[in-house]
Amino acid sequence: MKQIPLAGLVFAVFLPFAAPAASANLDAQVNDLLAKMTLEEKIGQMVQADMKALNGHVSDIQKYNLGSMLSGASSDPSPDNTAGSWLNAVGTYQSWALKTRLKIPLLYGIDAVHGHNNVAGAVIFPHNIGLGATHDPKLVEQAAHVTALETAGTGIRWAFAPCVAVAQNERWGRTYESFSDSTRLVSEMGAAAILGLQGKELNSHSVLACAKHFIGDGGTLNGIDEGDAICDEATLRKLYLPPFRAAIRAGVGSIMVSYSSWNGKKMSGNRYLLTDVLKGELGFRGFLVSDYAAIDQISPDYKRDVETSVNAGLDMVMIPHGPGHTNNYVEFITDLEQLVAGGRVPQSRIDDAVRRILRVKFQLGLFENPRTDPALTAAIGSPEHRAVARRCVRESLVLLKNENHVLPLSRHIEHLAVVGGAADDLGMQCGGWTISWQGGHGDVTSGGTTILAAIRQAVLPETQVAFSPDGNHLRDPDAVIVVVAEPPYAEMKGDRTHLVLSAEDSALIAKAKSSAAPVVTILLSGRPLVLNSALEDSSAFVAAWLPGTEGLGVTDVLFGDYKFVGKLPRRWPRNDNLSSVNADASAPIQFARGFGLTD
Ligand code: GLC
Repeated sequence: MKQIPLAGLVFAVFLPFAAPAASANLDAQVNDLLAKMTLEEKIGQMVQADMKALNGHVSDIQKYNLGSMLSGASSDPSPDNTAGSWLNAVGTYQSWALKTRLKIPLLYGIDAVHGHNNVAGAVIFPHNIGLGATHDPKLVEQAAHVTALETAGTGIRWAFAPCVAVAQNERWGRTYESFSDSTRLVSEMGAAAILGLQGKELNSHSVLACAKHFIGDGGTLNGIDEGDAICDEATLRKLYLPPFRAAIRAGVGSIMVSYSSWNGKKMSGNRYLLTDVLKGELGFRGFLVSDYAAIDQISPDYKRDVETSVNAGLDMVMIPHGPGHTNNYVEFITDLEQLVAGGRVPQSRIDDAVRRILRVKFQLGLFENPRTDPALTAAIGSPEHRAVARRCVRESLVLLKNENHVLPLSRHIEHLAVVGGAADDLGMQCGGWTISWQGGHGDVTSGGTTILAAIRQAVLPETQVAFSPDGNHLRDPDAVIVVVAEPPYAEMKGDRTHLVLSAEDSALIAKAKSSAAPVVTILLSGRPLVLNSALEDSSAFVAAWLPGTEGLGVTDVLFGDYKFVGKLPRRWPRNDNLSSVNADASAPIQFARGFGLTD
């Protein structure tokens, strides 16, 4: 293991155990293996089954020659979600794959979208909207590199990240997964994340990245998740294609196809965009994976969906279900065998799909080393890793207001009131995609620091810190920090028609103001919210997005150890009666993209 100091932090960079497939003979290796494979073995490589779909029948991996598996956001190997339980589970699945006739290793994927967020004790980074606010691609690359180390520490070599959506309407429940409403900023940050996950090229210590979701997921009408992006091709290309060009230039090895539609046609069946544009015009040589049961949405007939999606250019299909459920992985395999036998899907299409998948597996060095180095497991949640996340938090905070320079607060403050339950709620700090799909409240994971705990650590021992979740009994404090938050959500569960800060949170800020002390409001949210009186009632206002486990990154700036450097990654609406501040250039906005005070 070679240790390379990077920006004052030491990363373990594991030299490749074995020289990865040199590019010169890579295609020869792929074609040599492909030539040995039966149709069943080839189709098995195109299946990605959720771990829950096996329903305990792990031998199905060998029986059906499954090429890939995933853990959907709430598929866990054990209730405690320890790194060890993940390492063991993934190791077991890999053992079954290596029992197949040709011993083709399994490629395991997971939504490591803000750290290795399924695993207890892993570092949880700010969601992409916060990373976008840093405007620092090098930092995003470091964050992704730490995520790769922690993901590999559980034996998993594929992260379904980065999301390179250019979210146009903050009513979309996935706005926080988008770095920005700026195509340029998304392209830059997406490429940086890919570099952090994979390195300069795919090799034996890369974690495969997955640019998602192709294409126009963030441009649907009214921000409806899995909805319809209604626009002409010129707009589609101008707003949403550049991040994928940048991802391909960065060497991304996989791209996930969006649930959404373009002008009424489901992306999973769009041959023009998947094959002609992405693979042809842009020259993408990796493989395309569907979203979770996304092909099922093409039509009411599953076999027709299999035909349409594979012929459109999908190379691997993400299948959440096993035998006993409709549209399961056995049905997919049977249907596709019949479609090939009947000439409905050309053998050449199957060979192209499997060639792409095998190529990536060779580039990842999976054949030489299908398992990762256990030393990586020990580094999950390490102080070095947490230090990178803490810096991401610091640099993601955007100061929107600072009347009379009330910030930074003095550590010598005598009586500090902290108001709002969210101040001591790690789940609200992390948001969705944390341990479970929708996230949760309270101590959702181990090793984190809430904002309240960070405040208690930051001030002097003689400072009195009074915590009042409901804002009552404020006894003449010298300052009040109010933490308000959106409750955690993910995907369509976060779609909203109205985006105003809740009445309860506005009332909490007003109550704090009645104490006559300066009020510092910290908003934990996955997107801009219409603030109305909340902004007026606050002496200082900080957009903290969804910062993750490292609450000390917030107090680093609140108490002046570091300056505010964050700048808004997207426009902030002034009122709520708009389809989107991006849909109507004349719409009144509260703050422009790029706004952010430094003190
Ligand atoms: C989800 C999401 C996608 C995720 C996949 C696997 O529905 O759309 O971003 O990677 O399923 O969890």
